[in-house]
Amino acid sequence: EVYNPNGKYRVISTKPMPGTRWINLLIEQDCRLEICTQKKTILSVEDIISLIGDKCDGVIGQLTEDWGETLFSALSRAGGKAFSNMAVGYNNVDVNAANKYGVAVGNTPGVLTETTAELAASLSLAAARRIVEADEFMRAGLYDGWLPHLFVGNLLKGQTVGVIGAGRIGSAYARMMVEGFKMNLIYYDLYQSTRLEKFVTGMYQDLLVKSFPNFNQILIYYKIAAYGQFLKANGEQPVTWKRASSMDEVLREADVISLHPVLDKTTYHLVNKERLAMMKKEAILVNCSRGPVVDEVALVEHLKANPMFRVGLDVFEDEPYMKPGLGEMKNAIVVPHIASASKWTREGMATLAALNVLGKIKGYPVWADPNN
Ligand code: DGY
Repeated sequence: EVYNPNGKYRVISTKPMPGTRWINLLIEQDCRLEICTQKKTILSVEDIISLIGDKCDGVIGQLTEDWGETLFSALSRAGGKAFSNMAVGYNNVDVNAANKYGVAVGNTPGVLTETTAELAASLSLAAARRIVEADEFMRAGLYDGWLPHLFVGNLLKGQTVGVIGAGRIGSAYARMMVEGFKMNLIYYDLYQSTRLEKFVTGMYQDLLVKSFPNFNQILIYYKIAAYGQFLKANGEQPVTWKRASSMDEVLREADVISLHPVLDKTTYHLVNKERLAMMKKEAILVNCSRGPVVDEVALVEHLKANPMFRVGLDVFEDEPYMKPGLGEMKNAIVVPHIASASKWTREGMATLAALNVLGKIKGYPVWADPNN
């Protein structure tokens, strides 16, 4: 699909993306936009090389693609200066290779924070209250009357939520669980991020529309401690919160644990057999980060041995596949990497990705890069 065929800059999007704002932005700025409409879900390196061709100024790509040395050298040979992932995670992008070939890399932070945190919260609740199992039971025609022990799950209020990876998304999730469900909080961040102490309010929506130049300028913070004071003043049991001194402390103490680290060498199989064994027998583990953060084979074994342990997974080690046995486990809820899949967010991600590429081509600053 080609828009504005006579545009000066050739920009490729390897997938159709939601909304029209990103398309209009590129067209208005003199780009010829080519959107790949191949049916195949995952494009290979060869597919993308043939899309890039002899002249290409910038590419908007997807997290399913392997953006390494081969693609960045092809893009640079075609005169390309910019690549943006339509994702905040960029473990599929070799940033060093991009630097080597003079290609700027962008990602899409901020717009997916609340949407992703909402899915982590949904999975936490669905696992705690066994919603998927109960739904299957109803549809199978097995419900023959109310029973005191039917699908008894966990009350979250007063339990402890553990957050591993306290960046934008981990912080937003913590806020939801603490404010919404009055859970106590324990968290750990591998890079000692202090972001969680400064919860981000839900201001992105309006501000993105107003097109502020930089996300760092639009973050509005408030302290969770102040929220504790507020509850106390209103006669409610205040929630407690603490930064753990190790990740294992979170795993031992929390009833619901949500994983929000980036995927890199240090976080590969962060949750392994030994760490699963540290968790409470009835704990809930949620992963909306990247699949390889959890050793999925060890997880399947753990789920089999501990029927009261539950997981909510949005991501998998070898997407689109699940490790054998996972799909049969009643104590696992599995969804297909949809954490950022709200209409507003996906349109926002497409717009940011277009702004990243456009910024570099036109000589403005790239909107958001991996160091943001
Ligand atoms: C990301 O952005 O990294 C998600 O995995 C997809 O939204």
